[in-house]
Amino acid sequence: MDRTRRLRQTAVMRDMVRENHVRVDELIYPVFVAAGENLAQPVESMPGICQYSLDRVAEELDRVVEAGIPAILLFGIPDHKDEVGSGAYDDHGIVQEAVRQIKKDYTNLLVIADVCLCEYTSHGHCGLIKDGIILNDETLPLLAKTAVSYARAGADIIAPSDMMDKRVSVIRKALDEAGFTYTPIMAYSAKFASGYYGPFRDAAHSAPGFGDRKTYQMDPANGREALREVEEDIAEGADMIIAKPAMAYMDIIKDISNSFNIPIVAYNVSGEYAMVKAAASNGWIDEKKIVMENLIGMKRAGAKMIITYHALDVARWLM
Ligand code: PBG
Ligand code: ZN
Repeated sequence: MDRTRRLRQTAVMRDMVRENHVRVDELIYPVFVAAGENLAQPVESMPGICQYSLDRVAEELDRVVEAGIPAILLFGIPDHKDEVGSGAYDDHGIVQEAVRQIKKDYTNLLVIADVCLCEYTSHGHCGLIKDGIILNDETLPLLAKTAVSYARAGADIIAPSDMMDKRVSVIRKALDEAGFTYTPIMAYSAKFASGYYGPFRDAAHSAPGFGDRKTYQMDPANGREALREVEEDIAEGADMIIAKPAMAYMDIIKDISNSFNIPIVAYNVSGEYAMVKAAASNGWIDEKKIVMENLIGMKRAGAKMIITYHALDVARWLM
């Protein structure tokens, strides 16, 4: 008689039949670098996460490297913003300076640079604006310029998060022309217009000054359209695909994994992190159990890598 409980009788047995694993060497840890000095500024809505100035970011990176986390995803908080987001593609911008410093001091740490304008524009949108409209094609050259500038600073992977149409092909072409043929693009392809980005926008000071991001980020109701986005980005030259957020979008991760043969990255976003931390600090949930369960769900759905603010905690738990 079939009894599925047979394989659950001992820990050794359960370990042997376990289908999926969360591994530290597949985690990516987001890091916020800010202009200024002597900063390790806690982000209120993300307990445990700080913005670091370049003279103090080593404190955090030492922890990352000691934990065995192979990669960071860099976000910049510049000291000035303007209409055209010039801080993003300034060769001496905050991310460029950070990448140069980090690649010098931590040679083996993989540095992924998020490419977007919203942290650098005075209006907080991810593209150029005219008459209240977020322009697509006019934004593309600026994204390409930003990507090349980051690659030149030493970024190992370029991760465009703006959701403008055709940005992957424009960035790919610009990277190739600048000699960065082997710099991969990790594209935010299935990126939804989500309420879960709230704490990140506190952290990166990147909330839109008017309106919302619904004309460029995806409608949370659409699954089939996510596959179209992924297909398009792969055709344009994406090397890896990000699905974001993760927890309310596990079906999207599964669908991508069933349809495409490309590494998938699940982005366990700021709001997902904040909810778990808040409940855990009230003693309402077992943080370790809940986080590991969330992450194994992403692996089971088909994610290869996971971007998560929990990475340092997870690494500690797995040691
Ligand atoms: C910038 C960007 C955002 C996130 C990653 N890159 C915010 C947004 O699109 O508003 C969200 C990350 C998170 O919530 O952890 N485009
Ligand atoms: Zn943006």
